[in-house]
Amino acid sequence: MAAAGGGGREDPTSEVGKQGRLAMMELANMISVPMALNAVVRLNVPDAIWQSGSNSPLTAAEILALLRPPPPSSSDPSVLQRLLRLLASHGVFAENRCATSGARRYSLTDVGRTLVPSGDGASYAAYVLQHHQDALVRAWPRLHEAVLDPAGPEPFARANGGVPAYAYYGGDREANALMQRAMWGVSEPFMEALLDGYGSAGFGSVETLVDVGGSSGACLDMIMRRFPSVKRGINFDLPEVVAEAPPLAGVTHVGGNMFESIPTGDAIFMKWVLTTWTDEECTAILRNCYNALPEGGKVIACEPVLPVETDNSRRTRALLEGDIFVMAIYRTLGRERTEEEFRQLGGVVGFTAFRAIYLDPFYAVVEYQK
Ligand SMILES: C[S@@+](CC[C@H](N)C(=O)[O-])C[C@H]1O[C@@H](n2cnc3c(N)ncnc32)[C@H](O)[C@@H]1O
Repeated sequence: MAAAGGGGREDPTSEVGKQGRLAMMELANMISVPMALNAVVRLNVPDAIWQSGSNSPLTAAEILALLRPPPPSSSDPSVLQRLLRLLASHGVFAENRCATSGARRYSLTDVGRTLVPSGDGASYAAYVLQHHQDALVRAWPRLHEAVLDPAGPEPFARANGGVPAYAYYGGDREANALMQRAMWGVSEPFMEALLDGYGSAGFGSVETLVDVGGSSGACLDMIMRRFPSVKRGINFDLPEVVAEAPPLAGVTHVGGNMFESIPTGDAIFMKWVLTTWTDEECTAILRNCYNALPEGGKVIACEPVLPVETDNSRRTRALLEGDIFVMAIYRTLGRERTEEEFRQLGGVVGFTAFRAIYLDPFYAVVEYQK
């Protein structure tokens, strides 16, 4: 049937019209999902369920009793259960419903288990918390201003007195520490895949490796433990970031600004750095990398690489969501890029060879050779 009632709306009584309205209702309420996720992480629900690996299905009341720190006596399991139900429908928890009593019990799925610390303490929980700090959340209602004034400050800076995100983290010890934990939590499992699939080719013949934007230095540490032939590691990041980085064997923490110069090495590693910057800024970073490398030296960048086609797969959505995060928080014209766009950035600077290697559904290795 034709659109009814004028405008662009489908006939509201048709199946297409009903499904369209339902889909828009889901989208309009979508904020409930990340906020519920943030709430259960803040409450330490994943740890309470996991209990050193038992992951037994628990009622909301049983979960509340296991929370650390213990919740106040006023806390209400029925409120927690509502969060758990929503997140179960998004695959974070598995829900078992007792056929006789109707009681609902929750355990962690593979998705939910990413929120539980691994042996070395890494998990995605800090990343969830990092993304939902007040200063970041304040940026989102101003996203449309990025479209209207892309050359102006990004929504984060507009919402936070003109201070850009990295300067904000640098000026707040807690935010800085959370950022380092968040980066480590997400990096650790990817680095395992990287070292397995690309480690020998990438790092086998490197003696001095520079990690540009290396945060705590944890990625460099993992590389050097797996490849002891890398004798010297230089963890290069903003001075206020390296000031908080822990001592690591063989690693020198160097504070500086990658837009000014980058320490020299046989190879340069860089993870999740180019994505947050504009084309002009990426060209400046890559030019400084080029100048810091010997003939034949490589930049090994690990970045999300956008597919050319738009589809509704989880991978495409995760990448496009990350792209809008960059727009809101870091740089309006900083962005995720396709393989071809990464290739072009290197060509402008003068790198002679380029390849992209896909080892992980989120990050790819983007390799430039001088
Ligand atoms: C998204 S984080 C990635 C951290 C780390 N490479 C990882 O993937 O776990 C980007 C890093 O770039 C650093 N950074 C931002 N601006 C910088 C600059 N001008 N010079 C050097 N590092 C910078 C930030 O402090 C931050 O640690």
